[in-house]
Amino acid sequence: MSRKKIVVLSGAGISAESGLSTFRDAGGLWEGYDVYEVASPGGWIKDPEVVLRFYNERRRQLHNVKPNEAHIALAQLESKYDVVIVTQNVDNLHERAGSSNIIHLHGELTKARSTVPPYNVYDIGYRDINLGDECEKGSQLRPDIVWFGEAVPLMTDAATVAASADILIVVGTSLVVYPAAGLIDYVSRETKKYIIDPHKPNVSGIHKNLEFIVEKATTGTPPLVKKLLAS
Ligand code: APR
Repeated sequence: MSRKKIVVLSGAGISAESGLSTFRDAGGLWEGYDVYEVASPGGWIKDPEVVLRFYNERRRQLHNVKPNEAHIALAQLESKYDVVIVTQNVDNLHERAGSSNIIHLHGELTKARSTVPPYNVYDIGYRDINLGDECEKGSQLRPDIVWFGEAVPLMTDAATVAASADILIVVGTSLVVYPAAGLIDYVSRETKKYIIDPHKPNVSGIHKNLEFIVEKATTGTPPLVKKLLAS
């Protein structure tokens, strides 16, 4: 018998208990920076140095934190299910917890890319990107992050995956940033959907089979995973 498919949509909330702050709980400032100044093409043109510094700080911080029980529990689902994690997070905590199939909708902190097309992408690990660091064609490197106002190249892949889900788990996202928030609309009406978040996010549209688990990621996710592994 073929294995059932679980699609997970995760957001900043799943990494909060690892010590990475969320965006919308931060009161307009994200680790002391104006989000739109450091995560937009306009901000990059205005002050690339501050943008690079911001992401260099985030990368160093990522080096010092660990996956939590929620990331770890989701990785365990692979023993019984085909699992695809669609994450809005630019951290690498899902992969470090052992998940093997991850779509990073908004890019990855541990990658840099060129600023002229075609955009070459480079693995940089936890190293800084500085002004003057160039791609092989001589363009300044920038973080490989999807900023506000930029296209989300992996959205089509994510939507296709969502449409094939037998079970959807949404964890730690306010569901306010599109197109990612619209992924739930690609999931079949019959698919069982779980939303784990201590503050119920507003879900647009009418959805059947939707269950809210009003808990933090580390308390809400492991029991759900246990239930799914036992079913
Ligand atoms: N466990 C689970 N959820 C939590 C926790 C926790 N411990 N703490 C907070 N949350 C929830 C909040 O209630 C909120 O619903 O996590 C969500 C975080 O929402 P956002 O900060 O808006 O993060 P996210 O939905 O991932 O943002 C989407 O916006 O800024 C852009 O590109 C950035 O990928 C990001 C996108």
